Amino acid sequence: MQWATLAAAALFAQNVAAQGNMLRFACSQLVTERTDPLVNPGMKYTPHLHQIVGGNAFNVTMDPTKDMFAESTCTSCSFKEDTSNYWTAVMFFKHKNGSYHRVPQVGNGGPQGKLFNKGGLDVYYIPSGKVTAFKKGFRMLAGSATNTVDSKVTKANICHRCWTSPSESKFVGGAPCSGTDTVAIPSDPTCKMIRQTIIFPTCWDGKNLDSPNHQDHVAYGQGSGATGGGACPSTHPVKLPQIMYELMWNVTDYSDKSMWPSTGSPFVYSMGIGGAAAHGDYLFGWKDNSLQLAMDNNCNLNADCAKAGLHKQADATYSACTKNQQAVEDTEGWLKEMPMGDKLIKA
Ligand SMILES: *[C@@H]1O[C@H](CO)[C@@H](O)[C@H](O)[C@H]1NC(C)=O
Ligand SMILES: *[C@@H]1O[C@H](CO)[C@@H](O)[C@H](O)[C@H]1NC(C)=O
Ligand SMILES: *[C@@H]1O[C@H](CO)[C@@H](O)[C@H](O)[C@H]1NC(C)=O
Repeated sequence: MQWATLAAAALFAQNVAAQGNMLRFACSQLVTERTDPLVNPGMKYTPHLHQIVGGNAFNVTMDPTKDMFAESTCTSCSFKEDTSNYWTAVMFFKHKNGSYHRVPQVGNGGPQGKLFNKGGLDVYYIPSGKVTAFKKGFRMLAGSATNTVDSKVTKANICHRCWTSPSESKFVGGAPCSGTDTVAIPSDPTCKMIRQTIIFPTCWDGKNLDSPNHQDHVAYGQGSGATGGGACPSTHPVKLPQIMYELMWNVTDYSDKSMWPSTGSPFVYSMGIGGAAAHGDYLFGWKDNSLQLAMDNNCNLNADCAKAGLHKQADATYSACTKNQQAVEDTEGWLKEMPMGDKLIKA
């Protein structure tokens, strides 16, 4: 290990999971399409495009009483026992000629080692002290897909980092959502990758598996960043594992400024809005009580963990778990417009 890596590892370890182990694993892309069983159940061609990872029971409608593990035949995430679904908006590059190109997603490295993703994202479950795992049917949303105001976003929860290193495994910067990280998507031709972090609330009301806006049943605790979350408010007293999504958008191919629009950022999410509208959706779907056991037994990173019955799958195995689009449309290559708007069909 080089000194720079060691120093970064020390800094990172200080801020993440200071109290012990955490899960950190890769999820490859299951499908990219305009569906959203949390916010727009039953709808094909939802208002904006998502990239979705996890169990292949994913569908336009997801009945919370069903067992996602039993319904899935594979998962695009590393642990066989995790058939949860995780999704986010997709980043586009906006060419000055009016065309759009989807920005590719790549795996991440950093102090805890390289993770292989075929598209997709990395997921963390960071416990702080004794935590209560999510129950079957639990879902939540972090961020707001319609927000256009950066100052309404807490940078310690949702942020972007300009990754100037061409290698995803050479760590850049300190703890997630600290330092020079920004709510806005960086627009700087020296960025080789843009790392996006979405940290979910860690406090639950203990009663509701969901709420009308998919947010009111949970709350952020005291403290900030990827520390597992601090003390919970009395309204939401139950401490949850802290979920964090980490996405590496590879913007290397878009560094030529002569392609950039003359005004505004060349990078936008699939709502047509920048970092202010970054959001993440989560549908819990671990097998039985395996997540609770993983938290209780200090299962670590993406390693097999016998005490919780967790099995790490080979990169090629989880990456082979994909689904065909149900809302069929072009999302790849140069597009005349972003896939959004009026192609509304109820399933
Ligand atoms: C998805 O839902 C449709 C009905 O809306 C159903 O026909 C289809 O079998 C479901 N697919 C999966 C994989 O569950
Ligand atoms: C915009 O530029 C890209 C990259 O050169 C090209 O592939 C695309 O066809 C262009 N779009 C239009 C509308 O000219
Ligand atoms: C990012 O994109 C560049 C240009 O296409 C490519 O050479 C590089 O390998 C990509 N990086 C990763 C980590 O895949």
